[in-house]
Amino acid sequence: MLPTHEELVARLEQAGVLARHWRTAFERVERHRFLPDRISGPDGVTADRSRDPGHWLGLAYADIPIVTQVDDGAENGPGYPTSSASQPTIVADMLRRLDVFPGRRVLEIGTGTGYNAALLSQLLGDAAVTSVEIDADLAETARTRLREAGFGTFVVTGDGTLGCPSRAPFDRVICTAAVQRVPYPWIEQTRSGGRILTPWGNAFHNGVLADLTVGPDATARGRFGGDAAFMWVRAQRVPRRVVEAFVRPEEQAFESTRTELHPYEPIGDFDASFAIGLRMPTVLNRVEFSEDDGQRYTVYLVDPETASWASWRIEPEHRETGHEVRQHGPRELFTELEAAYHWWRERGRPVHARFGLTVSAERQSVWLDDETGLVP
Ligand SMILES: C[S@@+](CC[C@H](N)C(=O)[O-])C[C@H]1O[C@@H](n2cnc3c(N)ncnc32)[C@H](O)[C@@H]1O
Repeated sequence: MLPTHEELVARLEQAGVLARHWRTAFERVERHRFLPDRISGPDGVTADRSRDPGHWLGLAYADIPIVTQVDDGAENGPGYPTSSASQPTIVADMLRRLDVFPGRRVLEIGTGTGYNAALLSQLLGDAAVTSVEIDADLAETARTRLREAGFGTFVVTGDGTLGCPSRAPFDRVICTAAVQRVPYPWIEQTRSGGRILTPWGNAFHNGVLADLTVGPDATARGRFGGDAAFMWVRAQRVPRRVVEAFVRPEEQAFESTRTELHPYEPIGDFDASFAIGLRMPTVLNRVEFSEDDGQRYTVYLVDPETASWASWRIEPEHRETGHEVRQHGPRELFTELEAAYHWWRERGRPVHARFGLTVSAERQSVWLDDETGLVP
């Protein structure tokens, strides 16, 4: 193993995310084999493999996600990330949670670089792994890199939300992109007792992991667990640049009120924000800082479906007199947020892992503690 690779494996072990039965796979599969020749770190500094191999390898084995495609591969776009090699800690943690052992068959959605597919192939054997990637170029590159690394993983170019009926049934489904609605084909294609692990969220909050077990009634149930922000599967993306598109206080009528509520908890607390998102899943929240001191900012709430918006202006000197809130449109989004926040507090501030999900052919429902506690 390269020294940087060894350090990464040690780091995953220290973080408690590397299950014992996954260790050999993480030692044998070399992440750098799945990365492009030019990659960037979180600071945006690009490393070129041929010019600065040391820097490039350092990034390849750092515990960071590496963006490998923007704007679905289109040139001159705004630069939105659309594929990446996920952060190794998350990769190891998801594989640990997947609870999969040799002899089981797995469907992965979102091949991306092929790194996660290689790990699965290393543990389970090529024949047990099917990986689906919607982007034809990425799928082809992943196939090549897998082959060069010695794997014959079955990579399908297609929409993974449809599963892969010709290779079903599976014992496990693992999605490495986020969904708002768990696609029912995954449940149909999973054996009774099998598991589905997927990043899950909504426009308000991205997101958590949903860990579901498929029952004999062809319904999947399970709880949420883990902080996992992923890029969305293509057909379930949330709108972008909503503040620019919808908020125009100079020309739109709005109601102005004041509030003592500070965004610290409803927006800043992971569990509060997750719970509020369950009550208002189509509403996006954006925080825009007006000065570098980090103390003056506006929280925007936007519902693209009804073109409603609210702005919540935070200035330290208004702590006593209340922060200004403006609301426009048929939905009073700040009022809804306050109600959802109080609902969460009245239930004893439940952590996200107390919530769960049931997915049947007809619907997806979210509950608190058990299926009788449906979230309205
Ligand atoms: C975070 S990346 C996956 C990381 C990958 N597992 C790895 O090890 O590099 C998410 C991937 O999901 C793909 N994707 C998005 N929507 C999809 C869909 N409906 N079906 C299959 N793949 C999809 C994207 O093109 C992207 O490559």
